[in-house]
Amino acid sequence: MEDIISCIDIGTSKVCAFVARLSELGNVEILGKAIEPCSGVKKGVIVDIDSVSDAVRSCVQKLKALTNISIESAYVNVMGLHVDLFYFKSSVDVLRQDHEITSGDIERVLKKVEDVKLPEDLRIIDIVPRQYIVDGCDGIIDPLGMAGVKLEVESDVVVGKITTFNNIVKSLEKANVTIDGFIAEALALGETALTFDEKEMGAVLIDIGGGVTNVSVFKNKSIVLYDSIPVGGDHITNDISIGLRISSSDAEKLKREYSLALTSLISNDHEITVNELDGNTRKTIKVSQVVEIIEARIQEIFLLCKEKLEETGEFKDFSGEIVLAGAGISYMDGSVELAKEVFNLPVRLVAYKSLGIANPEYLTSIAILRYVAERMKSGRKDTKSSKPNRQKKEFGILKKIASLFNGLF
Ligand SMILES: Nc1ncnc2c1ncn2[C@@H]1O[C@H](COP(=O)(O)OP(=O)(O)OP(=O)(O)O)[C@@H](O)[C@H]1O
Ligand SMILES: [Mg+2]
Repeated sequence: MEDIISCIDIGTSKVCAFVARLSELGNVEILGKAIEPCSGVKKGVIVDIDSVSDAVRSCVQKLKALTNISIESAYVNVMGLHVDLFYFKSSVDVLRQDHEITSGDIERVLKKVEDVKLPEDLRIIDIVPRQYIVDGCDGIIDPLGMAGVKLEVESDVVVGKITTFNNIVKSLEKANVTIDGFIAEALALGETALTFDEKEMGAVLIDIGGGVTNVSVFKNKSIVLYDSIPVGGDHITNDISIGLRISSSDAEKLKREYSLALTSLISNDHEITVNELDGNTRKTIKVSQVVEIIEARIQEIFLLCKEKLEETGEFKDFSGEIVLAGAGISYMDGSVELAKEVFNLPVRLVAYKSLGIANPEYLTSIAILRYVAERMKSGRKDTKSSKPNRQKKEFGILKKIASLFNGLF
């Protein structure tokens, strides 16, 4: 039977919802998408539950009209500002007399991660196994059926402040949507946007959204840093508005029309007529005045990312690649060149086209769907062969944790 999954990306500038069909092979087929502008999130924090829930409701209605599917539950994103990641190793003794590792052993070793002592206000929202170790032999992806006495797992544990999730749950509840799981954005983005080699050799993913820039670092196939800076594309708009003394909406239009990150790329520095703030008078400015402001702000965002990376020590001896993502930066021609100047490292933009992603705004949603599909995949194989499976257990954790939150507030 085919599975239908949905996800909701609550961003600073928009709410985006997708519904997809999961094929038998675990491939994601997008059935419908809806996007609604939303101003209920500031600096990555929900400040207006009604505005978010209205946007979610409207997306759900659009998806119903488009696909005839009623979205009752969805996976939802959480960004770096709200979560912490830590590494945890747990171990159990293998129970069977013949020492064959069963799904029960795998479930127990993963469950042990949940025993970790956390401060009162923090909750685990996801457990992502990096590798299993059987009797000291590491690098094992699926220990099921192997022989051993001791089973260990090294995991990335995602934890978040319970109060933060309160508002996400409430916003979705008001739109009659329950949560299937919270997905740490960077984990999903890392899977979709980075190549296997980048994750192995080292990559910094810089996702510039509307109000927030997420910075994450991947090394040896794992995420080693996940943080956020409260600046994004909306700050470029704001700078243009203040710098040229024009309205925000006019500034946003100018930004989108002259979307260059470098003044050196201006081919024709012509004059543009814009409205003064009072709305009655017009004035003339030059393209270079807009682009200078864009360049200065993007450079500042990159410098802030660099500072963050240096602060955490993640930049010492770093020789990997920088990958830029998010609608706040992806439309800006010259952003890759500017980033190269700041970081002095190879830089590229997420390969939206070859990933089959039509717009940068859809990246998070599609990445979440693919990430969930990947984690469900083996569980589906499992149903057919009736062989208990590791990933099904791991995936069950997401659902179980979400169920703790649903109806909690
Ligand atoms: N065509 C365009 N040219 C330039 N900038 C654009 C364009 N379209 C969107 N943007 C900018 O992209 C930003 C929104 O990016 P994105 O959709 O990735 O953010 P978000 O997910 O809503 O927010 P966040 O991730 O910060 O919570 C806004 O600042 C918007 O002005
Ligand atoms: Mg976003």
